[in-house]
Amino acid sequence: MENKMKLHWENVYNEKNENEVSWYQKVPNISLDIIKSLDLNLNSKIIDIGAGESRLVDNLLDLGFNNIDVLDISKKSIEKAQKRLGLKSDKINWIVSDINDFKPDEKYDLWHDRAAFHFLKDPVQINNYVVLANSSLNNNGKIVLGTFSSNGPLKCSGLEVSRYNQKSVSNVFSKCFTLLNYQHSNHPTPFDTTQEFLFSVLSKK
Ligand SMILES: C[S@@+](CC[C@H](N)C(=O)[O-])C[C@H]1O[C@@H](n2cnc3c(N)ncnc32)[C@H](O)[C@@H]1O
Repeated sequence: MENKMKLHWENVYNEKNENEVSWYQKVPNISLDIIKSLDLNLNSKIIDIGAGESRLVDNLLDLGFNNIDVLDISKKSIEKAQKRLGLKSDKINWIVSDINDFKPDEKYDLWHDRAAFHFLKDPVQINNYVVLANSSLNNNGKIVLGTFSSNGPLKCSGLEVSRYNQKSVSNVFSKCFTLLNYQHSNHPTPFDTTQEFLFSVLSKK
């Protein structure tokens, strides 16, 4: 199962250009606006989970953040992001790992995940993710989570996803996190369609 998923994502990043996938954003504005609104400093330790080729990391570097980890199951996606960043890629700690197997060596202040968590369908894996995020965050640590909303598509990259609303996000994370706020956003895909996302900010209890 795990290998099947890795293969799926390696194929995606081998076969498609950055702007040929539905989740492409030239600038991840919602994530950036939320991150800027949080009480972080430039040394805050940030991880982008399932980052793929996202340009969030470029923007975080431009803002001056200097303690950034980028994780993805796909080695190819990481290689493409590294190539795009050129010399700046040396400033990033790159991690190729399935989130289900991730064992961080240090703690984070911010855990960002746009459209990776929503691929988890198994309640055990979902619970493990919540426990992992909790144990990986410092006191006061936050999650910025972008998932498809309950009005969003049933699938992403051909794979079924879990869709969330304010109540279900709050419930799923309630053991360890408080939902601080949330917003909906319509993501325009490169294929002239829109996808409704729910962005949630969760604070470690
Ligand atoms: C829909 S893309 C979103 C990419 C990026 N977050 C963005 O907003 O542009 C989902 C990403 O999650 C990664 N991913 C999927 N399942 C994963 C897992 N179990 N562990 C780590 N990464 C995973 C995929 O390789 C892919 O890059």
